[in-house]
Amino acid sequence: MNNLSLIVAKCDQTNAIGKDGTLPWDLPSDLKNFKRITEGGSVIMGRKTYESIPKKFRPLRNRTNIVLTSNQEWEEDGVFVYHDDSHLLSQILWSSPPAIVRDKENFVIGGERVYRDFIGECEHLYVTNVLGYIEGDAHFPLIDEDKFKKVFFCNSYEFDNSKDSHPYQLIVYKRRKSIDKFNTESFKRKLKIV
Ligand SMILES: NC(=O)c1ccc[n+]([C@@H]2O[C@H](COP(=O)([O-])OP(=O)(O)OC[C@H]3O[C@@H](n4cnc5c(N)ncnc54)[C@H](OP(=O)(O)O)[C@@H]3O)[C@@H](O)[C@H]2O)c1
Repeated sequence: MNNLSLIVAKCDQTNAIGKDGTLPWDLPSDLKNFKRITEGGSVIMGRKTYESIPKKFRPLRNRTNIVLTSNQEWEEDGVFVYHDDSHLLSQILWSSPPAIVRDKENFVIGGERVYRDFIGECEHLYVTNVLGYIEGDAHFPLIDEDKFKKVFFCNSYEFDNSKDSHPYQLIVYKRRKSIDKFNTESFKRKLKIV
């Protein structure tokens, strides 16, 4: 399985990803990048992350939405739901009908527990490093640079960041063991970076 990736915005100093059930920053340009990167694939998330998305935007459009919850009764139109199980990943990958989009990139989109559980399986990590000291109550795990190498880097001034609350860096990590090469030009086209 090599089309599972992860996408996160985290504080560069504290690794915070969330506070009080929401994002501790306002980064419209990063949300636009999130959309451009994830569209067409599936998005795998914890129940709290799903419920943190404003109602009018969920399920996330043009993506297969997969939500993890231990609550057997939780359901939502247009969402694939999975429950706690040691074979969760294989269930998601091989369920029938398949929830995962096999020939596309599929994205783990949080929160904390889901990132921790899946980071070891991911091929790419798309990391927005939000600059500043921002506290939170949900955090991203440390990235093991023995396992992942940086293959792309840019600053938020490459985008229209006039409405962003903080500057950030966008970094892509790729699994070191991977044999494929990261296609920088195609990624830049996706983000409309000239
Ligand atoms: N900055 C970012 O990129 C980013 C991304 C995502 C989220 N966030 C932020 O992170 C916060 C939410 O994250 P969180 O860490 O608190 O919660 P979360 O991971 O989104 O959701 C946790 C819930 O997901 C379910 N879950 C997770 N793994 C499961 C498994 N293996 N099996 C069954 N159920 C499982 C459980 O739901 P039940 O309790 O229903 O059983 C658990 O309580 C919010 O502040 C949000 O804004 C930030």
